[in-house]
Amino acid sequence: MPSASTLPKPPAALPGVPPGRMPRHVAIIMDGNGRWAQKRTWARIRGHRAGVRVVRETTEECARLGIGQLTLYAFSVENWKRPEREVSLLMRLLERYLVWERPTILENNLRFKAIGRLDKLPEGVRRELAETTRLSAANTGTTLCLALNYGGRAEIVDAARRIAEDAKAGRLDPARLDEAAVASYLYQPDMPEPDLLIRTGGEQRISNFLLWQISYAEIHVTPTLWPDFRAADLHAAIRDFASRERRFGGLGA
Ligand code: IPE
Ligand code: IPE
Ligand code: MG
Repeated sequence: MPSASTLPKPPAALPGVPPGRMPRHVAIIMDGNGRWAQKRTWARIRGHRAGVRVVRETTEECARLGIGQLTLYAFSVENWKRPEREVSLLMRLLERYLVWERPTILENNLRFKAIGRLDKLPEGVRRELAETTRLSAANTGTTLCLALNYGGRAEIVDAARRIAEDAKAGRLDPARLDEAAVASYLYQPDMPEPDLLIRTGGEQRISNFLLWQISYAEIHVTPTLWPDFRAADLHAAIRDFASRERRFGGLGA
């Protein structure tokens, strides 16, 4: 038996980043599709189409790196304010994405989830979401979570409503409510807290994404527009994350 010190070390998922410094949950605000298209004088929807390819590449790279969860902000509760044509094209694109990407999701052993007010999405989208979620439920690899018709405040309101209902019905003792109990009422109760939050497109804001869950996430903003985001940009974000000292209010190491 070789001694523990001679055993080969587990491979670092990313050269230069020790496995213990890899983020377990990466959340991304995929912004900049419209600007990417407009720079080329193309219709905004072409930017969204180009963005879908990047969703696939990023997902595959996260799976390859062994990241536990990737959560992608794809449509916010506020995005309904956009012109009806852009919204309906986005919904069609989303439905097609769910059908086309299903084999890739299954081949990569991904567990698919969606969070948001899903009941307000078009019927076709809801059907494909349910199918992909069902088919991938037993997978054991990276969790791919899409935030759709999602708002951080809406999520907290929905949780508060269910908490109040349970308290009223006598199923919950308000005195016992703690942070873990509140988290269990969120859309994905088993969601690990995001370690790394990436925003593409350069805006330095949260835009109502995962308000409860990101309290201690490390934030990485890149000016790169989402359709231009490549594996190298993901690696740069992870390296930036790995270099941070996370103190969680304490005094650090
Ligand atoms: C993000 O890209 C995708 C969605 C919000 C659906 P945008 O469409 O917001 O692109 P910009 O910010 O206008 O460039
Ligand atoms: C955030 O992008 C929402 C998504 C990426 C789905 P927005 O483009 O909607 O955000 P704002 O309007 O710039 O804050
Ligand atoms: Mg935007």
